[in-house]
Amino acid sequence: MPLVNVIRGERIEPAPFNIRTPYIKVPLWLLLAGWTVKASVRLVVLAVRHWHVSGPALLLGWLYLRYGWAGPVGLVGGVVALAVGWCLGHRPTFERFAWYPVLSRWRRWSYRRQWLPAMATAKLSVSFDGQTVVPVLKRVRCNGVADELTVRMVTGQIPDDFAKVSERLAHTFGARASRVSAGSRPDLVTVTLLRGDPLTETVAPFPVVPVPDFTALPLARREDGETYTLRLFGTQVLVVGATDAGKGSVIWSLLQSLAGGIASGLVRVWAFDPKGGMELGAGLPLFARFACEDFKAMADMLEEAVATMRERTARLRGKTRQHVPTVADPLYVIVIDELAALTAYLTDRQTKDRIKAALGVLLTQGRAVGVHVVACLQDPRKEVLPFRDLFPTRIGLRLTEEAHVDLTLGEGARDRGALCDRIPRSAPGVAYVVLDGDPTPMRVRFSYLDDDAITELAHDYGRLRAVPNGGVA
Ligand SMILES: Nc1ncnc2c1ncn2[C@@H]1O[C@H](COP(=O)(O)OP(=O)(O)OP(=O)(O)O)[C@@H](O)[C@H]1O
Ligand SMILES: [Mg+2]
Repeated sequence: MPLVNVIRGERIEPAPFNIRTPYIKVPLWLLLAGWTVKASVRLVVLAVRHWHVSGPALLLGWLYLRYGWAGPVGLVGGVVALAVGWCLGHRPTFERFAWYPVLSRWRRWSYRRQWLPAMATAKLSVSFDGQTVVPVLKRVRCNGVADELTVRMVTGQIPDDFAKVSERLAHTFGARASRVSAGSRPDLVTVTLLRGDPLTETVAPFPVVPVPDFTALPLARREDGETYTLRLFGTQVLVVGATDAGKGSVIWSLLQSLAGGIASGLVRVWAFDPKGGMELGAGLPLFARFACEDFKAMADMLEEAVATMRERTARLRGKTRQHVPTVADPLYVIVIDELAALTAYLTDRQTKDRIKAALGVLLTQGRAVGVHVVACLQDPRKEVLPFRDLFPTRIGLRLTEEAHVDLTLGEGARDRGALCDRIPRSAPGVAYVVLDGDPTPMRVRFSYLDDDAITELAHDYGRLRAVPNGGVA
């Protein structure tokens, strides 16, 4: 006889085991009470998590209950009046401590809403073992022009994975451009999304400080709104830019930042202006030495610089590895506008060889003993400047050709975002620089000193009276 299983009136196919969960009858009140407890717990968790919304809402509610409409309206009015007063009184602190923190919270919320699809379409989410893991947005910090997103990467990711899709991220989040750099910990990456462009307007000169910090001379505004500072200690600087790219503004920004030291005698600037003194002539009182036409005098000056450097090297040998400038033993800054005029276009072979030899020695041995070269150049090719590689710090202004970008800023710089050849003619002073420890080039705009500002600088801080072509009065 076939075995028939019947459970609660239902016929079941025969099987070794037939298991059914039992029905448990729950009274309606218990069910409702359970739902209420669950909903309340969720509400409390939500309120605690979003305290910056629930806190003010509770306070406003309490004020309403206690004082009627006058309570909340008075509080809101008071806060708005305080904010307006603070903003008008001292805008920088208002933005830093009140406005940007609020904006950051708001933006973090809006980034979180788009985060999952953005990570998936940029292929930054990782599927593994049937699970999808997504990078975590840890923190958002805003300023006037950029949002800085701190992201925890998925195990196995590196910052370069984000850098490769940085353009995609910029478009996804509606930003003008994005830059990716390594975060403060190995598992973090910083994605900077640039909204406005702070570089469209001319940058005003930075204030002169009495004692310049040679490890951080403020020269330019960065596209993320911060200040670009140059570490002059231990380096030589090469500035490359097509004609009218704004090489002059790099030199004058540097002289402005050094002016306090020039006035006190801590810094001595030797200036070379092979284009007849057109660029640097106005700053004569700032220079300890100045040469503008006579190339033999320039060769003499450079050889003198080598002699000074050798004397100092001999004195410091075995005592220190980095010279610290004093008034008695100052920092020498050799500024050369249009270096190619000295190293390539000069027809007098003998003078050219002298200049090249002296420059080579200065560039290789001057850094540690406080003799620094800051040179400008239009064409970065090797034929024009054989010792390009001796300049550790390079600044790339507008360039005429794509190929010049890598020659100036180093192999692969253009791929990493240094689009010097795309800087418009209408934006002189805009450049790409490589910041310390960060492979991604940063777009900056150097401060601009007009003729009046230069005359004023020379008048206020110039103490030396150099005469053209090498001499000192
Ligand atoms: N940082 C800047 N901000 C705004 N305008 C600038 C800036 N730098 C330069 N300019 C403008 O661009 C013009 C050309 O600049 P500058 O003379 O410095 O170029 P340059 O690179 O030295 O050119 P050249 O190779 O012909 O000497 C200046 O007359 C000035 O009006
Ligand atoms: Mg110039």
